[in-house]
Amino acid sequence: MNRLEGKVAIVTGAGSGIGEAVAKRFAKEGAAVVVAGFVEDPVHEVVEEINQQGGRAVAFTGDLSVQETAEACVLLAREQYGKLDILVNNAGVFPATSTIDKYPVDAFQYMVKNNIYSCFMMTRAAMPELQKTRGNVVSAGSEAGWMGIAENTPYGGTKAFIHAFMKGVATEQAKEGVRANCVCPGPIDTAWTHKETGPMSAKMEKQTVEGTPMGRRGTPEEVANVYLFLASDEASYVTGALYFVDGGVTNSKGPHGAEVPSSLKKEPEGELNLEHSQDGHAEIRKQDQWKHLG
Ligand SMILES: NC(=O)c1ccc[n+]([C@@H]2O[C@H](COP(=O)([O-])OP(=O)(O)OC[C@H]3O[C@@H](n4cnc5c(N)ncnc54)[C@H](O)[C@@H]3O)[C@@H](O)[C@H]2O)c1
Repeated sequence: MNRLEGKVAIVTGAGSGIGEAVAKRFAKEGAAVVVAGFVEDPVHEVVEEINQQGGRAVAFTGDLSVQETAEACVLLAREQYGKLDILVNNAGVFPATSTIDKYPVDAFQYMVKNNIYSCFMMTRAAMPELQKTRGNVVSAGSEAGWMGIAENTPYGGTKAFIHAFMKGVATEQAKEGVRANCVCPGPIDTAWTHKETGPMSAKMEKQTVEGTPMGRRGTPEEVANVYLFLASDEASYVTGALYFVDGGVTNSKGPHGAEVPSSLKKEPEGELNLEHSQDGHAEIRKQDQWKHLG
């Protein structure tokens, strides 16, 4: 407890999925949190839940890939809490899967905007504040950005950008006392990795879980725990790192997950109350509805 006492954090994409878990974990550890996401996301509910539990949180809604909106988000942290110590670039989208010959061009543009521009704009806007506090930024990379995944190629490309971007920021900003790292999740139990709620086919969902040596998805809370470490002063000598939280999938060759006994496939319960882990970007799930957000 209190590993982030006195810190102020912005968590993007914090209305659902992994971001909700990061916001709630950070708040439990003493941070004041700006919970940021699209207006369509359950951002206000997450804020309410944190404040009801005795934490400190405020909502920010808007499209964080837009320069003015990203700057307004950082300004809110400063006005509300007086400073900014931690930026978590977790916001992202995953609208489609397909081989590259048929990959929808608008889905690619939508990912470039929300995965790459959001991370760039927020990091750029936050850096002057992070320099003042000798703070740090942790961004969402991915197994897909490391390996490249079939029928998922442009998504992986957007995440590879984030890996390289964070490494460069880490080197460049070390002289300012600012650290920068990535958390690279494998398949996590959010809307994205279920065929009913995300763009994966039944075949891809099966391959995803069986191709993971631990034979199961990770939980949003298991990912949030690693964000916590990297954002905290415990990681004071860690910068430019890619931390994989992936059940071993980036080491895997073949369906090792199918050999794991079911007793070991059980997800740990965790201690956070995560009501929105499957609510990720709900508009996306209605076919073609995501286009109006692009
Ligand atoms: N779920 C996985 O298996 C997995 C694996 C690897 C990496 N990741 C990464 O983790 C992050 C979170 O994924 P998740 O599964 O929790 O998804 P999620 O959809 O539950 O959460 C992402 C949130 O970001 C918000 N968002 C996207 N673009 C935004 C923008 N421009 N402005 C404001 N809000 C925006 C979405 O509306 C959504 O609420 C993503 O960056 C993703 O690439 C997830």
